[in-house]
Amino acid sequence: MVEEKKSAPPSEKLQGDKKESGNSAPKKVVRRKPGSIKSKAKRPAAKEKVTETVTEEKKELKAEKKVVTDVRPTKKTDRPLTEIQAKQLARQHERKKSFTSVEVKATTKYIYGLKGKRPIVGLTAYDAIMSKLVSKAGVDFILVGDSVGTTLLGYETTIPVTIDDMVHHTAAVKRGLPGCLVVADLPFGEASFSFDRLLDSARRLMQCGADAVKIEGGKDVADDIEKLVATGIPVMGHIGLLPQTVKAIGGYRKFGSDRVEADSIYTDAICLEEAGCFAIIAEMVEGELAAELTKQILPPLVGIGSGEQCDGQILVTHDLLGLTPSPLPSFVNPCATLGLDGLNALQGYVQEIRSAKLKR
Ligand code: KIV
Repeated sequence: MVEEKKSAPPSEKLQGDKKESGNSAPKKVVRRKPGSIKSKAKRPAAKEKVTETVTEEKKELKAEKKVVTDVRPTKKTDRPLTEIQAKQLARQHERKKSFTSVEVKATTKYIYGLKGKRPIVGLTAYDAIMSKLVSKAGVDFILVGDSVGTTLLGYETTIPVTIDDMVHHTAAVKRGLPGCLVVADLPFGEASFSFDRLLDSARRLMQCGADAVKIEGGKDVADDIEKLVATGIPVMGHIGLLPQTVKAIGGYRKFGSDRVEADSIYTDAICLEEAGCFAIIAEMVEGELAAELTKQILPPLVGIGSGEQCDGQILVTHDLLGLTPSPLPSFVNPCATLGLDGLNALQGYVQEIRSAKLKR
């Protein structure tokens, strides 16, 4: 079915007067359906009381003994909270109060259908423990991102990540039995050799537990994505900043601020929609452009560093939890300081062993 796009491309919206001067032609598009802190235990008041009978004394002794055993596990939590920890606790309590669980279905159709209904939430996971945690938190989908390279494997970029790495981590995430959709990233180069190689790599990801794959790129990879979708492999698109091209683009930056780039990103989104992507990630896309794309395309646009007007948001869980040692991207507002808390806890343990305080 050939159908004319109802709204103008974003560059026309953003620069309406230039459109009149004939700088941008309207596009025809083909659409396809596609622990809480325990307070220090107090000694019972009985301790101060003068006891008159032996039985009472015995009772008291028992009570005292009980108190002593109760005190042990809380010993460490007697340390005063730092200001940051106190703020976090308060935020956690607030969140707990307002947390409403939403039914999540592990299908691409479900994610596609969320557009316009409620914001979609995605988070990354690379192992079974994190998979369980983020799934319990209620995310709509888990991305086994090639960000595993920079987050867990010690690489400076995602480029060295291999398909074997991705299979290993995807299988681990699946073993965490998440109740949501699992999307696995096709790593660097896999979409560039040949369609057969791409198909084989996507097959490996699906066979080790992925429900869908994600591919970086727009118009250049749209034909191959269309063929993958036709073979029954659901694909999530990824436009804007493509971290796998970081060596070519010379660093991480915002995309779509000028007209040429905005038009190019618009075309990428339309091509991915036509190829049958069930959702598209927009990374570091200029906020107004992302908002406009969100209105214009059929699949949900899930943003990362692309403003608040997208159909949903995705973040790297390690960044969000404060587990990333390197400087964070500007758009991340961590909701915990797990790295720092873990370090403090470990230093405390090392200190205790060294000063032989720990009684076994
Ligand atoms: O690999 C990844 O984690 C990603 C997200 C940043 C979207 O692609």
